[in-house]
Amino acid sequence: MSKTAHLSLQGKEIDLPLIEGSEQEVGIDISKLRGATGAVTVDVGFKNTGSTTSGITYLDGEQGVLRHRGYSIEDLAENATFLEVAYLLINGELPNKAEYEDWDHQIRHHTLVNEDMENIFKAWPTGSHPMGQLTAMISSLSSFYPESLNPNQSEEDQHRTIRRLIAKMPTIVAMLHKKSAGHPVIYPQNKLDYVSNFLNMTFKNITEEYEIDPIYVEAMNKLLILHADHEQNCSASTVRIVGSSHANLYACISAGIAALWGPLHGGANQKVIEMLEAIKNDGGDAKKYIEKAKDKNDPFRLMGFGHRVYKNYDPRALIIKKSCDEILDKLGIDDPVLDIAKQLEETALADPYFAERKLFPNVDFYSGIIYRAMGFPVEMFTVLFALGRLPGWIAQWKEMRDQKQPIGRPRQIYTGPTARDWVPMEKR
Ligand code: ACO
Repeated sequence: MSKTAHLSLQGKEIDLPLIEGSEQEVGIDISKLRGATGAVTVDVGFKNTGSTTSGITYLDGEQGVLRHRGYSIEDLAENATFLEVAYLLINGELPNKAEYEDWDHQIRHHTLVNEDMENIFKAWPTGSHPMGQLTAMISSLSSFYPESLNPNQSEEDQHRTIRRLIAKMPTIVAMLHKKSAGHPVIYPQNKLDYVSNFLNMTFKNITEEYEIDPIYVEAMNKLLILHADHEQNCSASTVRIVGSSHANLYACISAGIAALWGPLHGGANQKVIEMLEAIKNDGGDAKKYIEKAKDKNDPFRLMGFGHRVYKNYDPRALIIKKSCDEILDKLGIDDPVLDIAKQLEETALADPYFAERKLFPNVDFYSGIIYRAMGFPVEMFTVLFALGRLPGWIAQWKEMRDQKQPIGRPRQIYTGPTARDWVPMEKR
């Protein structure tokens, strides 16, 4: 195969080198295009544009394949702990026993947050959305650890910032949950593993004993792993582009959380449950809502359906759907909304509109049903997504800095007015 792409443009000829990935994906390197021809490429929404090379996550949307550092998502979800996957994403290899014990120990011993962080809650009106609060809380960590503002931190300092983020995020997420209920926060317990600690801080009531249910631990561990990374999606790209200006890591993660909040991205998990509830309250007619989703004059979209890169079943959705059945069964919960979700899926998959556009359930379609069965309020769903995605964002940020990537700064094609004379106010 030729290693270049030939472009003929308005009388100018240029050979553009090809970049081939380890899974034989091919990209055209256009970094010299503007210098040689004066032209730029335009690709609104980056539908055909690779923003980087990356060795973290491989995704084949046509085949429904997802691998982190070469390991399949199915294997990781079945066998790993979330902290193992976090280590793998950030460091590139699975930890051996000693490395894992050290990593786990470090995380357990960084879980406390500065007591002053509680003061921040006093400023928010009751009922504030926890995603807005989470962006602010994570960004505020830079005030508590100002050494993170140095873009040229030593490797050890950088690792300390990473450990702090992974360790403190569950504490902050549980605080958000407690504060929204007006309950006192529950402090982290170093004797507990990552997921058990999070569940304890979230669901224990200060006045009562709380027994951590292993079914919840297993489900939460799996859900966090399934959300851990997804290559150059909207929030990961945001983290990388903010980080490319050498903003501190807390600010970059805060920006990633803001990007995740939107209903077309991670915010879809909250919207799915709201949609399913609305359908249930309207009589549970799945077909009616499928028709609405197909109607271009109706703003209704089937939330939790469709994906920019998956043109096959999202492998994460397959695992979550199976877990959803198992967990509700184990917990003895019969949720009518699960039946509506399955009816919607079945009707959509049999409909030519969805088949032709290759629209399948995505990771958000069934996850909310599990979160709700565990007792999380819907406003917390996207926050839980952020908790899972944190190691992926960190890995993407670290790779971008390790590769010494330049500041992200896209070009544009200007379409506004050409030069014109100033008009004094009285003549406008
Ligand atoms: N319901 C109905 N129609 C849809 C849906 C949907 N959920 N998703 C896509 N389509 C249709 C579009 O109307 C479009 O039809 P057209 O070709 O006739 O105009 C076609 O399918 C392609 O859709 P686009 O919006 O162009 O695809 P894009 O890649 O830009 O969007 C997205 C992907 C944003 C995920 C979209 O499928 C969507 O809005 N889904 C619902 C929200 C959602 O679940 N988001 C979570 C995604 S997973 C994640 O981020 C964690």
